[in-house]
Amino acid sequence: MCGIVGYIGPKNTLPILLEGLSRMEYRGYDSAGVALISNGTLLVRKRAGKVADLAKKIQGDGQLPECHVGMGHTRWATHGEPNDVNAHPHTDCKNEIAVIHNGIIENYLAIKTKLQREGHHFSSETDTEAVAHLIEDLYKQTHDLFEAVQLALQEVTGTYGLVVVSTHEPDKIIAARMGSPLILGVGDGENIVAADASAIIQHTRQVVYLEDGEVAEITREGFRTSTIHGAKVKDKRVHEITFELSQIERGGYDHFMMKEINEQPETIRNAMRGRLLVEQGNIKLGGLEHVKDKIFNAKRIILVGCGTSWHAGLVGEYMLEHIAKVPTEVEYASEFRYRNPIITKDDVVFLLSQSGETADTLAALREAKSKGATVLGIVNVVGSTIARESQGGVYIHAGPEIGVASTKAFTSQVTVLAQIAVMAARAKGMTETDAKVLTKELDSLPQKVARVLQDSHLLKKLAQEFKDARNFLYLGRGANFPVALEGALKLKEISYIHAEGYPAAEMKHGPIALIDENMPVVCIVPKDAIYEKVISNVQEVRARRGRIIAIANEDDTEIAKMTEFVVRVPRTYGFFGPIINVIPLQLLSYYIAVARGTNVDQPRNLAKSVTVE
Ligand code: F6R
Repeated sequence: MCGIVGYIGPKNTLPILLEGLSRMEYRGYDSAGVALISNGTLLVRKRAGKVADLAKKIQGDGQLPECHVGMGHTRWATHGEPNDVNAHPHTDCKNEIAVIHNGIIENYLAIKTKLQREGHHFSSETDTEAVAHLIEDLYKQTHDLFEAVQLALQEVTGTYGLVVVSTHEPDKIIAARMGSPLILGVGDGENIVAADASAIIQHTRQVVYLEDGEVAEITREGFRTSTIHGAKVKDKRVHEITFELSQIERGGYDHFMMKEINEQPETIRNAMRGRLLVEQGNIKLGGLEHVKDKIFNAKRIILVGCGTSWHAGLVGEYMLEHIAKVPTEVEYASEFRYRNPIITKDDVVFLLSQSGETADTLAALREAKSKGATVLGIVNVVGSTIARESQGGVYIHAGPEIGVASTKAFTSQVTVLAQIAVMAARAKGMTETDAKVLTKELDSLPQKVARVLQDSHLLKKLAQEFKDARNFLYLGRGANFPVALEGALKLKEISYIHAEGYPAAEMKHGPIALIDENMPVVCIVPKDAIYEKVISNVQEVRARRGRIIAIANEDDTEIAKMTEFVVRVPRTYGFFGPIINVIPLQLLSYYIAVARGTNVDQPRNLAKSVTVE
């Protein structure tokens, strides 16, 4: 949510900013802008639309001079519609101070009103502009940019990843963080600050994470930080970015989403690498070693997440209760925090998050921690806030996920949850022989997923058939009910077709009224313990002439007699089925979106990594 990048160093800054912004565009893409300092003048260029539109505008306006300090922003609008004026950077009255911001300034109206009364002139509807004017005001007192930013932030409530440049002190960048991530890339004679590592990796692998309430002054030679109240920050540890540049490029695919769907055999394998002890029928999860007993003796496990991560949690609930016999609950992170949940120190709370930065999930983590629960992360982005604030956890190791619609993170999260379930089951007395059946099955999943991907042309054909549908229903039972939800979410997000996921048997309590000969109904019907039950629901749809697309096992000889279309998937142990069954649903959404001509990787109104509440 909102891309931020700032550079100071010997290189020409504009191309670095534009490159960084386009790598971060998946975070927000309704408008973009840059601010550069050239010979004591602040040059600001901004534009509604994509980073490419901004680049075109800059070229059209006549090239900007070579500059060595600057910053750029790609926006996901909160306050004020996406247009040229509301795009960041925002400046003070005299165009001497520029600010870019990710997050929400909650008390901006009070600040703005006060400053307007004092004569400040505002141009935009944004919350961010208030900060630029506030810094202007405070700079008059301090004549020190770092201090002015500190003082301004003491007056601000809300969340921010904030970067400031000014002609007053042209040889530095000030950056501050509260609730929205900022990473400092430490180079040799140059430094870069960004909202995520994808804008940094090309320049340096050495990074420092800013903490909440921390302000940094960044120069060519180095940086210093303190809290917004001026307290010293202990030595900052330098971390190394682990992923490769190629992982954040499309690698020959038309879209990141398709690349990421196709990576799944590999990413599922990575989620198990070094952890799955097939022949011992056991699992070793290093990041949970020190809290193993807490997990095994937990009165209750609570899985918390948003969107697709919440769906993964729902699958996890089925696995943990069935395989490990641990009472498990799943919570929307956004609801968890505000309903004052009853949490005890015997609860283990897993936070599921691809980005590790989702504001609601982070707030849930802090809520559970403050109530004494053990909080553990199941996170993709290494070094992200949720990962750092958790007391332990498991990285899913899916590699950067750039497509806004999450795909590979889901299957990797479920793979990790499956392993936690098996590990807990063993500790609670499951025999090695029984566990081996499960570990062998887990081991076979990547290859089974690869088989589904080989048949993707069938989904392409189906997409042609259904691309003009106005609505879709997705039905599944048991652990495949969350798969139905996930299939519906994927379709909504990228094709803008209304879709709902339902537990198959629940359909007759209402949604069945929607079914007629125009309604596509995707039924997930693997040959598992509740196959016959789901078949009854399929028959109910058929009796109302719904157009059924069945996701069924390769050895199901009956299903084709009952349904218009069948997509075959390999059979697996029932509770691991979601990892395979979701793949055709991802492909179907992808191909429908492509057939409808939508922007698959950057669907309207969405952004990756939702860092506002
Ligand atoms: C759906 C999607 C979102 C995210 C949700 C949580 O395709 O991407 O629903 O799953 O915003 O994000 P993370 O997992 O980063 O916390």
